[in-house]
Amino acid sequence: MLSRPCLGYAIGLTLGLVAKGVNGAPCDIYATGGTPCVAAHSTTRALYDAFNGALYQVKRDADGATTDVKPLSAGGVANAATQDSFCAATTCLISIIYDQSGKGNHLTQAPPGGAASGPDANGFDFLASAHGAPVTLGGKKAYGVFISPFTGYRCNTASGTATGDAAEGIYAVVDGTHYNGACCFDYGNAETNSQDTGNGHMETVYFGTGGGSGAGNGPWVMADLENGLFSGADRNSNPGNLPQTSRFVTAVVKGNTNNHWAIRGGNATSGSLSTLYDGARPDSSYNPMKKEGAIILGIGGDNSNWAQGTFYEGVMTTGYPSDATENAVQANIVAAGYATTSLTSGPALSVGSSISLRATTACCTGDYITHTGSTVKIQAVSSSSPDALRQQASWTVRTGLGFSGCFSFESKDTPGSFLRHSQYTIVLNGNDGSKQFAEDATFCPQTGLNGASNNALRSWSYPTRYWRHFNAVIYIASNGGPFEFDSKVSFNDDVSFAVGASLA
Ligand SMILES: *[C@@H]1O[C@H](CO)[C@@H](O)[C@H](O)[C@H]1NC(C)=O
Repeated sequence: MLSRPCLGYAIGLTLGLVAKGVNGAPCDIYATGGTPCVAAHSTTRALYDAFNGALYQVKRDADGATTDVKPLSAGGVANAATQDSFCAATTCLISIIYDQSGKGNHLTQAPPGGAASGPDANGFDFLASAHGAPVTLGGKKAYGVFISPFTGYRCNTASGTATGDAAEGIYAVVDGTHYNGACCFDYGNAETNSQDTGNGHMETVYFGTGGGSGAGNGPWVMADLENGLFSGADRNSNPGNLPQTSRFVTAVVKGNTNNHWAIRGGNATSGSLSTLYDGARPDSSYNPMKKEGAIILGIGGDNSNWAQGTFYEGVMTTGYPSDATENAVQANIVAAGYATTSLTSGPALSVGSSISLRATTACCTGDYITHTGSTVKIQAVSSSSPDALRQQASWTVRTGLGFSGCFSFESKDTPGSFLRHSQYTIVLNGNDGSKQFAEDATFCPQTGLNGASNNALRSWSYPTRYWRHFNAVIYIASNGGPFEFDSKVSFNDDVSFAVGASLA
């Protein structure tokens, strides 16, 4: 099946179109401004004051069961406890991000496209982990959508979204520290057939360092207009587009009729939006626009799926929102009070300590994570093993190279070399100082899936994936994913390690 409808999943949706003036939620504000939402997606909160329907659906990997997460109350923050209890001691994916607008424009697993197929059996992209992007809003816990490479959501049969040269507004709240330069961490309007059908067939928010550039080193809020990530009218550069380095960023792109569009952005936890570009389209191939009206999240219009980023909330409107309307939406986002929270759980690891990591599957409880050169495996080690072997099984806990709230593991006998994932396999490599290495070498310990005294080591950059021993090799594995080492058989035991004192 290569297409899945966007409609037909909504159960118990409540449509809240009660105009509340500029004090309302984002979609109330857009409605008051005469540019109502035609798509409203958020796993963290209701985007209408009156909305109390399902925000998103989580799917449990182990048994495929699903449940919907709703707001705590109408207009409120997501009820994270629903997810936490449903997914306790197992793993979950975000399977549907519901459209709150009442148009039925729900986002589901993106199908293959012209540029790329996903890794699943039908060529669909990965779904995001339900646990990858925990935050708080006004002190209440919620989960964002952590997009790793090859992860994407799409609605190719959207209704009510802008087509042709019609006007629209788009905003997204994203993690300003989670990005890359690959194509394309997008949210917005795209082709309905998942193919590149030409310039002007897309109009989305993009966040990262791909394509064009602005001032400094980025990351930047840009627009994907197809065959180009634009920081302004110039395909290459717009020095007026300032980097957005806040932890939470509000990213705005709006497209008017008649050769006019704009990019705006700002800190999603304080202050106002800056206009980063406002003017003409890049060239005549983008005027008039030929928007098709599908909706994408985390991928390009042709399913280019190599980007990463985190999405918390976003909408698409019909009509060109005024700056004043967007400024009121920004004030509402700031008032929502996004803040960070811990990405780790389970037995605490302390930076600087020297540890061993012992398998807990019944087969292998005398086996420890050990390296031989760059190869990493579990093998039997004990206090009577030769000193060299005990050293090879000993690791120094370091602050996460790619994210300081998680950890990296440095080899005791090869200082400067760290455990990192590469092609889904854990290897020991020297730190080359790159962003890629740092992120590949960062892991967030969780409560063991087979018991609270163990740790499951989750990849920071691929949070569906945990260290897992499989035929003695250590992979980053997802529960029931597409690869052989993703097998559900004894997954919980294979990903749970006993962290103990160093063997050397
Ligand atoms: C964004 O706002 C928060 C809250 O006021 C502040 O702590 C942070 O420094 C701001 N980010 C930037 C890049 O100024």
